[in-house]
Amino acid sequence: MPHIPLRHGGPNARIAVIPGDGIGKEVTPVAVNVIKAATAKRHRPIDFVEFDWGADKFLREKITLPEGAVEMLQDEFDAILFGALGDPRVPSNQHAADILLGLRFKLDLYVNARPTELFHERFTPLKDRVCNDIRLMVFRENTEGIYVGAGGFFKKGTADEVATQEDINTRKGVERILRYALDYARGGGVVARGESSSPAAFSRSHHPTHKPLRLCMADKSNAMTFAGDLWQRTFKSLQLKYPDVDSRHLYIDTLAMELVRDPRQFDVIVTNNLFGDIISDLTAQLAGGLGLAPSGNIHPGKTSLFEPVHGSAPKIAGKGIANPFGSVLASGMMLGFLGWHDEAQLLKQSVKAALHDNISTPDLHGPKQTHEVSDWLVNYISKHS
Ligand SMILES: NC(=O)c1ccc[n+]([C@@H]2O[C@H](COP(=O)([O-])OP(=O)(O)OC[C@H]3O[C@@H](n4cnc5c(N)ncnc54)[C@H](O)[C@@H]3O)[C@@H](O)[C@H]2O)c1
Repeated sequence: MPHIPLRHGGPNARIAVIPGDGIGKEVTPVAVNVIKAATAKRHRPIDFVEFDWGADKFLREKITLPEGAVEMLQDEFDAILFGALGDPRVPSNQHAADILLGLRFKLDLYVNARPTELFHERFTPLKDRVCNDIRLMVFRENTEGIYVGAGGFFKKGTADEVATQEDINTRKGVERILRYALDYARGGGVVARGESSSPAAFSRSHHPTHKPLRLCMADKSNAMTFAGDLWQRTFKSLQLKYPDVDSRHLYIDTLAMELVRDPRQFDVIVTNNLFGDIISDLTAQLAGGLGLAPSGNIHPGKTSLFEPVHGSAPKIAGKGIANPFGSVLASGMMLGFLGWHDEAQLLKQSVKAALHDNISTPDLHGPKQTHEVSDWLVNYISKHS
């Protein structure tokens, strides 16, 4: 029988699991374990289908993203749980670009949602900050900008060499990411049109009142005048349609400074692909760094992809010490996207409880191995579901 995707009213969820390379293979099974634990007692039928796309397959068969993969994921799966890609044996990183950027672009996953929440004061490098001070969402445009690979070389390898890298911005692309962020802010952390399309579960408890959140659009329109002008005009015209959202603009360099000076000013940040990539590393670090940072690559109403922000960390791969929290929190976002908000909250609660009891890996100065953290989380979730 063909699978009817959950988002179209189908009875069960189907998740494609792509662990990838390095520690992606260690943290993704933990995420699957906790999802199974969270959904078991609630009788949520959920199927996982694993794909071995990554460096090993590429080196063995020269295949990165198999033919027909995008259509299959689109038609047969509700969401994708992704680990990480990157392997020193593939210095060109070709497989990673084909698979991850390929999926982001071909599935048109135009929203990259990167939430940051401080779970314990000991994780922030800022002094005198408490948990409530750092709780925000970065929306990064995910399909355009400088990442589309437009550009080239002239006189390559000579003393007169020229390299260009084009920053592509379309009216449609700018407008849809701004609208998504404004809708999210208006809904107090929920995207009103199609709640199951929003990573709401991650932020619902951030802002339980459902009051509109404050939004900041950041660009560099003072120097990048053409693209900046498009972002400015689009933003200003949308601000008129969202009078209930407290929205403002900052230049990206000012935003970086203000985030460090006083992160309490920010609930929702929206920006382009490059700036979002950089600023979300800064926000992740405000709350403990890569090991705790999840992300969602989203197209509302379509198959979307959830992953930890970190990479494949080849230096620690195979040592059993990879921190699985980023992946577990990304699965929480995925369950929120599927509309399973209680389970999503339970996953987040389990991470908070683990951190409170110092059940964590050495990167967070904890004494545990990956599998011990996994067992602890599963046990916690089973007791509390
Ligand atoms: N989304 C992705 O798949 C993705 C993202 C970033 C980097 N990469 C790739 O990963 C490879 C390594 O890149 P990198 O070293 O710049 O970034 P990385 O995120 O893999 O590692 C950066 C540092 O953080 C540590 N670290 C990261 N995640 C950790 C975790 N879960 N637990 C404990 N420690 C953790 C690593 O040991 C390393 O010291 C490269 O091939 C890169 O291209 C992939």
